[in-house]
This record gives sequence, structure tokens and C-alpha cells, in this order.
Amino acid sequence: MSENKQVDQLHLPGVNTILAVASGKGGVGKSTVATNLAVALSALGQKVGLLDADIYGPSQGTLLGLPPETRPDVQNEQLIPIQAHGIFCMSMSFLGSSKTPAIWRGPMASGALQQMLTQTAWPDLEVLVIDMPPGTGDIQLTLAQRVPVTGALIVTTPQDIALLDARKGIEMFNKVEVPVLGVIENMSTFTCGECGHQTAIFGTGGGDQIAQEYQVPVLSRLPLSLETRLASDAGRPIVVDQPESASAQEFRALGEVVASKLLNQAPATAPMISIVDE
Ligand SMILES: Nc1ncnc2c1ncn2[C@@H]1O[C@H](COP(=O)(O)OP(=O)(O)OP(=O)(O)O)[C@@H](O)[C@H]1O
Ligand SMILES: [Mg+2]
Ligand SMILES: [Zn+2]
Repeated sequence: MSENKQVDQLHLPGVNTILAVASGKGGVGKSTVATNLAVALSALGQKVGLLDADIYGPSQGTLLGLPPETRPDVQNEQLIPIQAHGIFCMSMSFLGSSKTPAIWRGPMASGALQQMLTQTAWPDLEVLVIDMPPGTGDIQLTLAQRVPVTGALIVTTPQDIALLDARKGIEMFNKVEVPVLGVIENMSTFTCGECGHQTAIFGTGGGDQIAQEYQVPVLSRLPLSLETRLASDAGRPIVVDQPESASAQEFRALGEVVASKLLNQAPATAPMISIVDE
């Protein structure tokens, strides 16, 4: 049995390309990658927006070092993105009260997301990076369908369990015909600060395996690094905090690759998409 669904895509005026940073599994580093990549792209001279689409567990407010009471200005019923580290950001972090527990039911949550999507006044942007919520459920699928995503990046750790979910992520984007630009293997190796020896705490080769399976490249292998975690917790993306670190260099290299890949994709004004559910 099959069911055809026609979906109206949103039009985000002034937004040239849209990059979704996703994964099937939670906690693999999507938000960390989204923030640092956004800042790295901005350092390349691009005008960059960052949409935190994780409404249940928004983290961009913290990652960008914005105080919890940060609220966007509202002009003509449009939310004005918050500027930090050179990028323009919108997040549930700025809209809800931090005391509101994240136990909303689906309709309310997707309503909030809808509002952020349709009522944010982005400036003219070369790229809007979307920090996707974990999982491949309804919210993620709806986002991937309704937003004219130019390309997606799948973040995974090298563990089997994360790879299993990364596959689901790739398949979700394949299903809605959004090109997967590549896989980011995060927390790849750990370099001991004492003696410099390297340990693959979460295993090795996972990214390659998946890349081969789905014919997508591994664009980056980001080290597991204490500095990255500490910098993130302090609200300073590692590319800003320690630009000479191995992690920052890796993010900048990723930024260059992603920028050129986005250029090669069709602009973010895809026609209506039809989806076939088996
Ligand atoms: N390369 C890394 N080295 C060290 N710590 C990292 C690295 N990448 C991410 N982390 C840390 O791992 C934790 C989870 O990262 P992050 O919040 O980016 O993941 P996520 O996939 O967005 O999670 P969620 O699914 O909850 O949205 C954070 O504490 C973050 O600082
Ligand atoms: Mg996250
Ligand atoms: Zn050691």
C-alpha cells in the first residue's frame, strides 16, 4: 500500500541556501557542529543564520553564550534574530521560559517550530544552518519536507548504535529528496593531553562504512576534545575560543567544503515535493 502526500514548502525570503545538521541519535554533537560550522562559515565572509529547531531541548542560547533572559525584538509581528559571534540566531531558548519543562505534546511543539520558521525576519543570508532535533520522527520529517533544505549533514559518532540511527537519518532525507552532502564523524579519536597518544574511544571506521553504503563522503572527523566541551559549556564555540586547536582547524576546513558543496546545489527554492510512503 502506498500513500502520496503533497507538501507545501515554506518560502524563506532572502535565504539563499539551507543546510540541515541532523543525526538519528541524540547527543552525538549536532548542536556543537551546527554552531561551530555556522561561525566558521561566517569567518569565510558569508552571512550566516542559525535556526535551533530543537524545541524540546534548545541549546543554541547556551552554546552562543547568550544570557537565559535573551529575548528577540519583535517588528511587524516578526522575530528579529539574535546576533552572536557574527551569526544570526533564532531558538526556542529565546522564546520560552527556562522554567517551562520540555514536556509539551506534539501539536504545541510543532506550533512553536512553525512560528519560528514562518515568523523570523532573517536578513539576506548566504546560508541558514538548521540545528535539527534528534531522531527521525514526525517533527524531523515535517521539517525536512516543509523547509526547502539545500543539503543535509549527518553527524554520528563511530559507534554501531549511533551509525544505526545515522542510517535512518540518511534514509529520511533520501525519502524527501534532500541531498545528503556528507557525514561528519564526531568524537572520532581522543588525544591524551599527557602523552599525546591517540585512543578511538568510540571505535573507528564507522563513518567510512556508512559513507560507502550510501555513497556519501565523510566530510570531517572531529576529535573528542575536552576543550571543545569546555568551550561550548562556556558559550564560546571552539572556533572562536581556540582558533588554532585541531578541532577549530577541522571546523574551518569543513566550512570550506560545505560552502562549495552548497554552491553546487540548486538554490533553496525547490518545487513541491511528493512523498511516497511504503
Ligand atoms: N568533539 C567533541 N568533543 C568533546 N565533547 C563534545 C564533542 N562534540 C560534542 N561534545 C559534547 O557532547 C555533548 C552533546 O553535544 P551536542 O549537544 O552538540 O549534541 P546533540 O547531538 O546536539 O545533542 P541533542 O541530541 O541533545 O540535541 C555536549 O556536552 C558537547 O559539548
Ligand atoms: Mg542538539
Ligand atoms: Zn596518555
